Amino acid sequence: MKALHKLAAQRRVYDRLDFWGLEEWQAHVVWTPHSAVLAISNVHGPEQLEADPHVPIAWLRWFSIMDGASASATARATTAHLAETLAERGFRELWCITRRTDWFHDLLPECQFTLVDRLITLQHSGQSPPHATALTQHALLREMRDDDFTQVAAVDCAAFMSSLHYGEAWLRRMHRWSDSFVVAEIEGVVVGYQLTMRYPLHRHMVRLAVHPHAQGRGIGRALLLRELTGAREQRISALSLNVVSSNTRAMQLYRQLGFQVVDTATFIWRKEIS
Ligand SMILES: CC(C)(COP(=O)(O)OP(=O)(O)OC[C@H]1O[C@@H](n2cnc3c(N)ncnc32)[C@H](O)[C@@H]1OP(=O)(O)O)[C@@H](O)C(=O)NCCC(=O)NCCS
Repeated sequence: MKALHKLAAQRRVYDRLDFWGLEEWQAHVVWTPHSAVLAISNVHGPEQLEADPHVPIAWLRWFSIMDGASASATARATTAHLAETLAERGFRELWCITRRTDWFHDLLPECQFTLVDRLITLQHSGQSPPHATALTQHALLREMRDDDFTQVAAVDCAAFMSSLHYGEAWLRRMHRWSDSFVVAEIEGVVVGYQLTMRYPLHRHMVRLAVHPHAQGRGIGRALLLRELTGAREQRISALSLNVVSSNTRAMQLYRQLGFQVVDTATFIWRKEIS
């Protein structure tokens, strides 16, 4: 852990662990003489770093190199070594998200990553949302319960492309940090959910998903409106969220409800490792 702390204090550190602490994942850190890197799946927690056969995808979440080492050569060698290690564990793809300001953003093409999409951040700045009720025409909205995780993970899996799936371990962890976690159910079956985090000055909706069988019936809109109404009642001035630029359907919904683009400088990358 001492060596890891040292690397965490270097000038070039990339950290997208979000809801996890580096120490929880230290057993899975991959080392080279000048760097340390960590890639994990969104499906399992730290106790297991084997690829899920349905989602053989790992996300690069933490990467640091020693001050003085060559960024380019070290990034190439480290990501190649990481890819070999992940392939042995059954992973087939390595993904990552960067901002232009991240130290290895410009190095990703030479590390054989290709650009997949761009993440757009939108924000709603508190102007009155249309009225929301707990009952949409089609579904009941209620707080998430402990016995909902399996169903929520199934909705997530059906609604998002596999690289973005969250498994139960991740949902449970996010639940701990969440400010609001609401599900939509039809006849006792969970068909949608939204998960929002609270930050000092605003809220961020991390997830909004409706099962494909239930889409297009106003459920996504109702989940979003409930969150906007709650934020307004609690005098929280802004609600933000991210959406991939190719997701025109979600984008249309957000724009209809008054969200505006505030940032476009986040990128999604992918590298084949088999
Ligand atoms: C985006 C999503 C949450 C919307 O939920 P939904 O319940 O299907 O949406 P709603 O029925 O409430 O529709 C709300 C608006 O979404 C847009 N929309 C819904 N279905 C659409 C379609 N087939 N084509 C284009 N726009 C569509 C429209 O703007 C619609 O408003 P309108 O009915 O007044 O035209 C849902 O499609 C989903 O889970 N998608 C996959 C996961 C995802 O992309 N999540 C968002 C990540 S940021």
